Amino acid sequence: MNNYLTPSRRALKDKNIIIGICGGIAAYKTPQLVRLLKKKGADVRVALTESGSRFVSELSLATVSQAQVYRSIFPPAENTGSDFTTHITLGEWADALVIAPATANTLARLAAGFCDDMLATCFITLRPGKPVLVFPAMDGQMYISPSVQRNLATLKAQGAIIIEPESGELASGQCGTGRMPEPEAIAAYIEAALSVTHPSLLRGRSIVITAGPTREKIDDVRFISNYSSGKMGFAIAGAAAGRGANVTLIAGPVNLDTPRGVERIDVESAVQMREVAGNFFRSCDIFIGAAAVADYRPAAVIPGKLKKNNPEIQFTLVKNPDILSDFGFQKQAGQLAVGFALEQDNGPANALKKLEEKNLDLVALNFSDRKTSGFEVDTNMLTLIERGGITTELPLLSKEEAARKLLDAIENICRQT
Ligand code: CTP
Repeated sequence: MNNYLTPSRRALKDKNIIIGICGGIAAYKTPQLVRLLKKKGADVRVALTESGSRFVSELSLATVSQAQVYRSIFPPAENTGSDFTTHITLGEWADALVIAPATANTLARLAAGFCDDMLATCFITLRPGKPVLVFPAMDGQMYISPSVQRNLATLKAQGAIIIEPESGELASGQCGTGRMPEPEAIAAYIEAALSVTHPSLLRGRSIVITAGPTREKIDDVRFISNYSSGKMGFAIAGAAAGRGANVTLIAGPVNLDTPRGVERIDVESAVQMREVAGNFFRSCDIFIGAAAVADYRPAAVIPGKLKKNNPEIQFTLVKNPDILSDFGFQKQAGQLAVGFALEQDNGPANALKKLEEKNLDLVALNFSDRKTSGFEVDTNMLTLIERGGITTELPLLSKEEAARKLLDAIENICRQT
């Protein structure tokens, strides 16, 4: 099990859960899953895809869930007079959406934003901050195919929690990765996801996050920038929205989808980022500087395209505003400033110096080898340093997991202030 949370045993009590079931052989386990969730006190509704209904009977699911099973977004023919809003109210009703098994086809539909059945529509109408857990289960070769992996990455970037399938014997008779976890394990994942979102201290707080690189124009076709992909800042934004915070993400030029429930403002240069961020300085509760802001910009932008007429050219670079530092010194009591420190040598000492010089409450020290940590990659190794030098070293984690740990630390500071 991904160790991203410690589940609370009572997390399912009185919770409304939608189980989305797609057409995979693992669907035969779902009546048992529904029963288990009901036993733990949850109210369960089933959204069954057309192909899902080939693998598991609607009658079994209706019996164990003690409720109607949903397929189409249209009411059944015999109920033509009934309300045609269930596709919205069901999504609003749910505390979590669990898609198990999730097939390659449904992953593609969800990633593309289709609303062609009840399951896909609930994915869209689910309230921001409510967890979506996706349990892909399919043939091993299908699972590793670029299309499936691309769709999973899209859903993950939108804040869905993707649980890797298990390895073992598959329906094809071959061994590989593709098996859906057993109902008990799925229930534990749901409990874990609901344990964190429910009592979060970030719920309702306004969090502003800068992410990605900035571009500093040389002329109309060239710029100075860096290798930042924005993945860390986007992961923090998605995780914070998942905890119920109102998140504004100020993003430099990146190639990432906006996480679910996040308001995103795109900018290009450090000066633009400072200008937009400044609009939130007074109103936000927490400011997190995750952007790799270019420290310098060309003093003047050359109009048009610079010709290569000269054997050498010289630029004057001028210092950019330090957005995080500006916030650190303007923040009022009750506001928190959180930053990153990208260091090569003397990491802890330099990070602590940044914390003090920018008047931060927390700094996340990292380094960038562009293989395991820092720019571009999917993992990061953070050392969290608080005021007074209180230090927590985290292992190498996925950026999503590192984001959750960072938010745990921020929640801890909120608890103490
Ligand atoms: N930061 C910022 N504005 C800048 C530069 C940095 O808001 N103009 C923020 C970053 O988002 C990060 C933190 O400050 O949270 C530290 O960034 P880093 O690049 O590690 O350090 P710098 O302050 O730029 O200092 P140096 O490059 O000298 O290490």
